[in-house]
Amino acid sequence: MNDKQLVALAAAQYVQNDMLVGLGTGSTANYFIAELARRQRDEGLKITTVASSTISAQQAQAQNLAIVALEHIGRIDLYVDGADEFDSDRTLLKGRGSDLVKEKLLAKAANEFIAVAEAGKRVDRIGQNYAIPIEVMPYAWQLAHKSLEDLGGLGDLRPNAAKDGFWITSHGSYVLDMRFANISDAQQLNTLINNTPGVVEHGIFHGLCDALFIAENGTVSEHWA
Ligand code: 5RP
Repeated sequence: MNDKQLVALAAAQYVQNDMLVGLGTGSTANYFIAELARRQRDEGLKITTVASSTISAQQAQAQNLAIVALEHIGRIDLYVDGADEFDSDRTLLKGRGSDLVKEKLLAKAANEFIAVAEAGKRVDRIGQNYAIPIEVMPYAWQLAHKSLEDLGGLGDLRPNAAKDGFWITSHGSYVLDMRFANISDAQQLNTLINNTPGVVEHGIFHGLCDALFIAENGTVSEHWA
């Protein structure tokens, strides 16, 4: 069993009957979804899920998990999702994909948000290995880009896979991938980007995660708030 699978399985142990469970997006989240399906099949676990992306909804549906739409929920019991980076403060960088908005909504709506990651994703400062993905309204991208540059950001619109246009998220936003070498405090950067007009959402998840489960060489450690 690899570390992604191991950490996903550790989080799945926290799922109990009658919970409404938020499903993250990515390869680690896929292992979590598969484990929920296994527990439903083998242990008779009774849950309902809500997905952070179409791909996760498809995974859940294919494995016979009950799904409700995001627009029908207020709170959820538990959200489990992966991350691209995490720091000592349990701040995460997420959003390599296209589903930041739903991911952050579910992280915020959850009574408990467990983030799951391999130890190699640990960083000293958020944004160390990846640019910060910042979703912007398409018509506002130049103005938002200018505001972010004024904060010291460097970066540009994310190209599409064919490199003949721009990446469009599942909400129809563009993505600016920006690096801020001048700001090392993730909380400060979170606030500054939140306050930028035209920004729909961004990949810094600060103060949202109740527990971070880290897998390293076949062992999982749990870090609760
Ligand atoms: C998607 C995400 C993912 O959770 C993150 O990219 C980690 O992915 P993986 O589990 O495949 O390593 O934030 O928006």
